[in-house]
Amino acid sequence: MDKLIIEGGVPLTGVVEVSGSKNAALPILFASILLTEPVVFHNVPDLRDIRTTIALLLLLGCDCGYENRKARVVAPGVLHPEAPYDLVRTMRASVLCLGPLLARIGQARVALPGGCSIGARPVDQHLKGFEQMGAHFDLEEGYIIGRCRKLRGAHISFDLPTVGGTENLLMAAVLAEGETILENAAREPEVVDLANFLLSCGARIEGHGTSCIHITGVSSLHGTEYTVMPDRIEAATFLVAAGITGGELLARSCPFAELETVILKLRDMGMEITATADGVLAKCARPLRGVDITTQPYPGFPTDVQAQIMAIMCLAEGASIVQESIFENRFMHVLELMRMGAQIKITGRTALVRGVKRLAGAPVMASDLRASASLVLAGLAARGTTEVRRIYHLDRGYERIENKLNAVGARIRREKE
Ligand code: EPZ
Repeated sequence: MDKLIIEGGVPLTGVVEVSGSKNAALPILFASILLTEPVVFHNVPDLRDIRTTIALLLLLGCDCGYENRKARVVAPGVLHPEAPYDLVRTMRASVLCLGPLLARIGQARVALPGGCSIGARPVDQHLKGFEQMGAHFDLEEGYIIGRCRKLRGAHISFDLPTVGGTENLLMAAVLAEGETILENAAREPEVVDLANFLLSCGARIEGHGTSCIHITGVSSLHGTEYTVMPDRIEAATFLVAAGITGGELLARSCPFAELETVILKLRDMGMEITATADGVLAKCARPLRGVDITTQPYPGFPTDVQAQIMAIMCLAEGASIVQESIFENRFMHVLELMRMGAQIKITGRTALVRGVKRLAGAPVMASDLRASASLVLAGLAARGTTEVRRIYHLDRGYERIENKLNAVGARIRREKE
């Protein structure tokens, strides 16, 4: 396992490039199972989760190639229906192959993802929607076994706006017989990117990006070339990096509208964030002060930026209140931040952060993808040396983040643990 050694205290200045979105690329790659013609994807980030997805597509019988952030997938006539536990347990998003397999070959055998450090993350909404479309499921030895003759359109209303559930049912509906309506659907930009990819293959979709999506099934889809949207969560991480180190960063290929709630909160804290022709410029305009956030489904404050903004709150004047309303256990970074001198008190899903003058470098342990990013951000600002261990979590969602940060002044080295 690798670890990062960070010498903190250097203001970051320069230009960082935002990679393609992991959370858009994953469903879009699985959606290529829906068609037999080749699809080519550009701006696919080089991440562990992408490599895992390519490995799963190969196991399912697809012909896949990936190099220089370009992926090519062909899903031939015969597909294998099984996503094995050994692979699914390393990446919960593997459950996104359910919809495409049921739509394409009428069967699927997918390992239940099992527990996750940030919460239970059940898939009941996915299965309930598929059953309304005519699929039947059994649970055997930890595998969901799904079968259907031909999926038929249905009027599905989610109990809560699930991103993965919306994506899975959207992929199933594009080849189903008749009309499907997804109500209380997730509005995340990554769902919109998936819908735009499917539209480019000839699918008939309306309302994507709203909470009511209308799909008219078609008999088949055609091949296409598609460029994945930039990663708004990676981008947000870089904006925070500029603020927490008191530097100035220009984030190229940085989404702006899709980061509105994050940008507004960072501005409230005292950062200056402006869209320019070359990208989004972020710097500290004055001493930072605390703000309150509550994570919400899009367009609310994203849960995937909660850990990162908490790191900068640790050094802001005054207090900040963080309410995590999406996942039941997404404060794993708190105890590690406290090892660095942060003053944080947790009550249930609420954290009270009292700003301190300085953080001190320390050995800390990454527990999940965004918690790892939070610890790296704290290490960049802390006095002394911070050692972030188990950074395989980080490599799932950030392309060699130490290279990008060192290019703008950070002092980070990667070592074998
Ligand atoms: C996606 O996960 C993202 N992952 C997550 O990003 C992100 O945190 C999450 O959406 C919320 O925005 C990918 O896109 C690959 P959900 P997903 O279904 O689809 C509950 C990262 O760091 N729920 O919207 O799994 C669930 O327990 C990752 O990049 C059910 O109860 O999230 C959670 O509390 C972490 N039943 C809430 O809904 C279901 O059937 C939101 O989950 C499905 C979900």
